Amino acid sequence: IFGPDGFLSDEGPLYLRLQAKIRQAVLDGALKPLEALPPERELAASVGVSRVTVRKALEGLVAEGLIEQRHGSGTFVAPPQRKFQQGLSHLTSFTEDMRARGHATTSQWLDRSIGRVTPEEALRLGLSPGEAVARLSRMRRADATPIVVERACVPAALLPDPAAVDGSLYDAMDRLGHRPVRALQRISAENLGAEDAALLGLPEGAAALCMVRVAFDAGGRPVELTQSHYRGDAYDFVAELTVSS
Ligand code: GLP
Repeated sequence: IFGPDGFLSDEGPLYLRLQAKIRQAVLDGALKPLEALPPERELAASVGVSRVTVRKALEGLVAEGLIEQRHGSGTFVAPPQRKFQQGLSHLTSFTEDMRARGHATTSQWLDRSIGRVTPEEALRLGLSPGEAVARLSRMRRADATPIVVERACVPAALLPDPAAVDGSLYDAMDRLGHRPVRALQRISAENLGAEDAALLGLPEGAAALCMVRVAFDAGGRPVELTQSHYRGDAYDFVAELTVSS
């Protein structure tokens, strides 16, 4: 990794190019979490740049959170990601997502009742004004860790008894013959309001990923409008991108 292999002939300031090279090695896994980087002097000599350049590149990587410098013992790749990495290409439930990672889910229920649809919900769920909907709101944990606050709205015609949903909403919908098979999803950045912050054990205003999902059953019928606030320090969404041919 740390050889003079031509990257120095590229464009841009040297320290940024060195920073980019090390960043890539960390992201590719060529440098593993907690692995020690060579001492500054050695790194400078092997790459063929000054120690000042190496220092600036390392400072940048420390600021990015990719490496850590421990006084007296050297420079190390940062510890492994403690965040959940959630793909964006498959329609899965929270229960499935967590089970796949070996975690059990539990809920703190805030609401499981039948109410009237709001005009905006009616539009998104294709309901008539004032129709009945099941509301299911809860804070969800992976093992003991609070992860997400979810507020789901399901046509009551499909889910007449929301109190019967105990764990997975999708399992309940499956039993009722309306398992979601397709969804539209929007993800945006938000700062947590007081209520959700308290539920997640975070300070008010903490960063969250807000996901709004409208899911459809096999018949194309909208079955769920759910707003989820995932804690920003515990969850990453990851997507694979390809070039269109
Ligand atoms: C995710 C989605 C929600 C969906 C939920 C279903 O968390 N963001 O929109 O309602 O999964 O999960 P489960 O079946 O575990 O209740």
